Amino acid sequence: MKRLLMSCAAAAAGAGLLAAAAFAGPTFDEQGRIVIPENMDRWPTVGATYALQYEGDGGMTLNTVRLDPASYDAYAATGTFPVGAILQLEVRLPVEEMAPAKGGKTQGAIVGRSLHVKDEKGGPGTWTFYGFGPGAKTGNAIPRSQACYACHDEHAGKTDTVFMQFYPALAEARARVAQASAAGQ
Ligand code: HEC
Repeated sequence: MKRLLMSCAAAAAGAGLLAAAAFAGPTFDEQGRIVIPENMDRWPTVGATYALQYEGDGGMTLNTVRLDPASYDAYAATGTFPVGAILQLEVRLPVEEMAPAKGGKTQGAIVGRSLHVKDEKGGPGTWTFYGFGPGAKTGNAIPRSQACYACHDEHAGKTDTVFMQFYPALAEARARVAQASAAGQ
């Protein structure tokens, strides 16, 4: 792990991206559980969806996807997720009739959270999902036999198994990088 972190830091420094702050990346305990990063609420939001239905009867939920800040900066500069990137999916129930609103819905209680991490535990470039309950300090890796991997591979395989079609700001950043490199900058 240390080697992974050091190589991330070296790659980032080499690209001149993160002069001020070394890229922290994920950390794991002896059992291979991921240590849940603190302050994920402060991470940049890259996606917000309402009532997206894809896992059977998921109910009406408001989902927020956040990306760790160092990886956000790296992605905006290169159009690629660095090794160590962590995306968090937060699923909340909708709440109605919150005064003074006369209609519409807003975020209520959290009903699920998970992480998608480019940790290369399954080989170069691979990502792992981790689930964790409320207040948990660590999260367990979700086995690769679970449906999570198949759906992300099938419908987001061309974008590093990350659902870029739902993250417009990141897609726009990637397009800017592609445009700049096509223009030879
Ligand atoms: C049938 C398709 C499907 C399955 C199965 C699925 N997902 Fe996803 N996942 C999505 C879609 C679509 C999004 C887009 C964001 C949203 O939900 O608002 C997403 C987004 C995510 C994200 C945000 C980062 C990213 O990669 O885009 C995480 C984390 C995530 N899913 C975890 C899981 C986990 C954990 C499981 C299994 C328990 C799972 N997903 C199963 C379709 C799927």
